[in-house]
Amino acid sequence: MRAQAVAQPNIALVKYWGKRDAERNLPAAGSLSLTLDTLWTKMAVELEETAEADTLTVNGAGNDKMLGRVSTCLDHLLGPGRAKAAVESESNFPIAAGLASSSSAFAALVVAASKAGESPADTLSLARWAGAASGSAARSFHEGIVELHADDDEIDVRSIASVEDWPLRVVIAVTESAPKAVGSGEAMIRSAATSPFYRSWVERQDEDLSMAREAVRDRDFEKLAAVSEHNCLKMHSVMWTSRPPVVYWNEATLNSMETVVQLRRAGAPVFFTVDAGPQVKAVCLPSACDTVSAALAATGGVTKVIVSGLGRGARLLERG
Ligand code: DP6
Repeated sequence: MRAQAVAQPNIALVKYWGKRDAERNLPAAGSLSLTLDTLWTKMAVELEETAEADTLTVNGAGNDKMLGRVSTCLDHLLGPGRAKAAVESESNFPIAAGLASSSSAFAALVVAASKAGESPADTLSLARWAGAASGSAARSFHEGIVELHADDDEIDVRSIASVEDWPLRVVIAVTESAPKAVGSGEAMIRSAATSPFYRSWVERQDEDLSMAREAVRDRDFEKLAAVSEHNCLKMHSVMWTSRPPVVYWNEATLNSMETVVQLRRAGAPVFFTVDAGPQVKAVCLPSACDTVSAALAATGGVTKVIVSGLGRGARLLERG
């Protein structure tokens, strides 16, 4: 059986950085994100009874680095006695460079594999399987603005605003496309073990989440901007104070953050967020999108600007 699915990456405004249970990959706290529409990952999964091993290609080239995580995810989803899989991944953006490629990859993988393996499940169960492989992937099952709850032994995840409810834009300033030196999973375990700020970071997440939830409910852009930038800078403070430190920023990252702050001072509805990589994501209202794109494109060290609206959750593609 062969099946193909597509998913879009998501960008967190209230971030996931830390695991409650590394074995099960349960996040230490909840998070809130925007599902994008312009970027995508397609995953095709073909189960072959006679094959001896799983294979993975990413944009046409063999990729052994990700293969272990993909195989483990398939083992959990389909059971250890499953047929081996030929997995083909295709993305229209750089992977492992802080553009949330693991969120779209594992969401699409789980949707395609459950179909190929004739192992149907509801969206929440699929999101939990994907989250066990990569925490952020659980959020790519839903559209628009998404909240992930991590209060219990299992995560829960749902959309709190549809694409039409609040059509925000995200302008991504790409400053470097090479894969990052330290993966986010490894880096967050290091932060939990060594940063003196880690505990208070986790303890304050609920406060930031309720503020962000209220901002979304009231479509209060200024409030969302304030809590998102604060949350992003707290996460990076935890990274910087880890031992050894985890620093994903470069000069162009700082230049881009400064561009966003200057634009806001001049009255544009825009704020920044930065994940485990050097790219800057500027979230803005549609009215400011052209100004923000032009300003970031003209910022020193920015190599490319990608503009996205909010998009839909992971789904099967008709022609597997
Ligand atoms: C900074 O989901 O990549 O983007 O569960 O270990 O695969 P693993 O981590 P991952 O971490 C995402 C970290 C982040 C913040 C976020 O997306 O919430």
